[in-house]
Amino acid sequence: MFGVGKNNQVLGVDIGESAIKLVQLTHHNNAQTVTNVAIEPLHRGLFVEGQIVDAEQIGTLIRHTMTQHKFTAKRAVACVNFADIISKRLIVRADLRALELEHWIEFEIDKFVPFPVSELNLDYQFTKDNEHDEERQVLVTACRKTTIDKIQSCMEFAELEPLCVDVAHNAMERASHLVIQGMAGGGVNGLTALVDIGTSSTRFYVYKGAEMIYQREEPFGARILIDDIVSEYSMPEDKALYAIYNKQLPPSYKTKVLKPYVKPMVKEIERGMLAFEASGVNGQIDRILLAGGSARVGGLEKILEKRIKKDVKTLNTLSLLHAGKKISSESLRSQAPQMAIACGLAMWVPDGVL
Ligand SMILES: Nc1ncnc2c1ncn2[C@@H]1O[C@H](COP(=O)(O)OP(=O)(O)OP(=O)(O)O)[C@@H](O)[C@H]1O
Ligand SMILES: [Mg+2]
Repeated sequence: MFGVGKNNQVLGVDIGESAIKLVQLTHHNNAQTVTNVAIEPLHRGLFVEGQIVDAEQIGTLIRHTMTQHKFTAKRAVACVNFADIISKRLIVRADLRALELEHWIEFEIDKFVPFPVSELNLDYQFTKDNEHDEERQVLVTACRKTTIDKIQSCMEFAELEPLCVDVAHNAMERASHLVIQGMAGGGVNGLTALVDIGTSSTRFYVYKGAEMIYQREEPFGARILIDDIVSEYSMPEDKALYAIYNKQLPPSYKTKVLKPYVKPMVKEIERGMLAFEASGVNGQIDRILLAGGSARVGGLEKILEKRIKKDVKTLNTLSLLHAGKKISSESLRSQAPQMAIACGLAMWVPDGVL
């Protein structure tokens, strides 16, 4: 049963193009303690364009990392990306029973997706009741079975029990609450932009409360930084990644490589803001939260605040949670933005049961 002994540990597993992020949280009485974390660089080609290419190698690497860092969690929450899902709000008769409802959803969703329903995993959640009691609003999320199967296969190779396959932006939203509390205005009113600067893509999501009202993805990310380090210092990619994480780059790195990368990154975020304003969605963005490995670059918040004139913070939830005895709070602080999704995944609670 949930909530007993080591069973209340949940591992958030965020697989990205150049790194696997693992966050182990221990849930107790609605509070969470960070009991282990790890970032493991991933070789090029194992996870491409948001898809798992080799589940066995990735799963085995997760298991190896867990053993090396003495993780004890058995149950995990992983995720797919926004690009992997199709969501649709439907109005449904309130008197349908579970099985009838599932058949009805399959029938309706078939009209919107370019794949046969038999190839999809469907998930649904009631959002809010309609004015009329006879009808309810349901949010249906569809994802290709092959995508979910690959994640499950990864979990099997990692010897983990998958609790749930979530969507990355839900995990970020979940992780954002604690950070938003400490921002200007304090509450969840207004619009929040969550920006995830990954390896090959930057994903820009806008939320009104918990509801995502806008998203955009652009082909910009840390791949540029990695490639520039490789060519500037003639080092192989794995050494370049090792050097980034261990701060072992030559003194010229900041001016020759990092600065020229930060400039277009700031521009990309400004462009994201402009694209949102031009999109016709009502409202102004009140605050920006930055996630992803590139958000670890020191001083990025200040640079953006100056340019954009908005409240900007890194999504550093991990460093705001209570940390277990063996965890260095300094390393949590530095890793937190890159761990935002893994942290939000580990915060997942099935109907408040944990
Ligand atoms: N301190 C740092 N300064 C600059 N860049 C960093 C730092 N730490 C990590 N990175 C960069 O962040 C990259 C990884 O970011 P992240 O883990 O968010 O990407 P990903 O999840 O693998 O990619 P995607 O989400 O696109 O699949 C690393 O490859 C590295 O280049
Ligand atoms: Mg990522």
